Amino acid sequence: MKTLIFATNNSHKLQEVNTMLDGLVTVRSLKEMGLDGDIPETADTLEGNALQKATWVWERCHQDCFADDTGLEVEALGGRPGVYSARYAGEHCSFDDNVNKMLREMEGQSNRKACFRTVVCLIEQGVPRYFEGRVDGQILTERYGEQGFGYDPIFMPDRFAVSFAEMPLEVKNRISHRGRAIAQLVEYLKQQY
Ligand code: IMP
Repeated sequence: MKTLIFATNNSHKLQEVNTMLDGLVTVRSLKEMGLDGDIPETADTLEGNALQKATWVWERCHQDCFADDTGLEVEALGGRPGVYSARYAGEHCSFDDNVNKMLREMEGQSNRKACFRTVVCLIEQGVPRYFEGRVDGQILTERYGEQGFGYDPIFMPDRFAVSFAEMPLEVKNRISHRGRAIAQLVEYLKQQY
């Protein structure tokens, strides 16, 4: 089975992606590869950051790898925080800080439309290829649920009455931004064999 290194230190992402790629490729984490250190994410687009993260791994291992980058785009905030979603509340902020800031900024706002967008960059033999996924929904007025990570407790996808943090992982994976981008990666990989 083909092995791909996933350029992330986020254990939630690793679990989500492992579930989707199970049986098709062996996914190795950075930790398993003995790679540590902060991967740079200094581009101003999701594509740029995904490429930067995957390239960081490629340059160190010369093994096929992929990385993802996600942005939460909120209509009433003019698309913010977008590519800056991880550092929305400041340089070394926590998921909680970001959620608190979002709840504050959206206080009293009636337009709560938002979307998550993910770009996955796969590097095979040094050549990058991109896959994209998107999910539309609403920013909730308070936190709901304990599962997942990041903005999950305050994001409710369209056609659902619960937040991402209230969903079983299989349901989130089926409809989420990253789930949809990874589904495209799966389709591509299946065509390869
Ligand atoms: P990253 O660049 O993909 O690590 O994600 C940027 C920001 O979006 C981080 O603060 C993450 O917490 C958040 N994020 C990414 N994916 C998700 C998700 O599936 N649910 C909630 N928040 C997410």
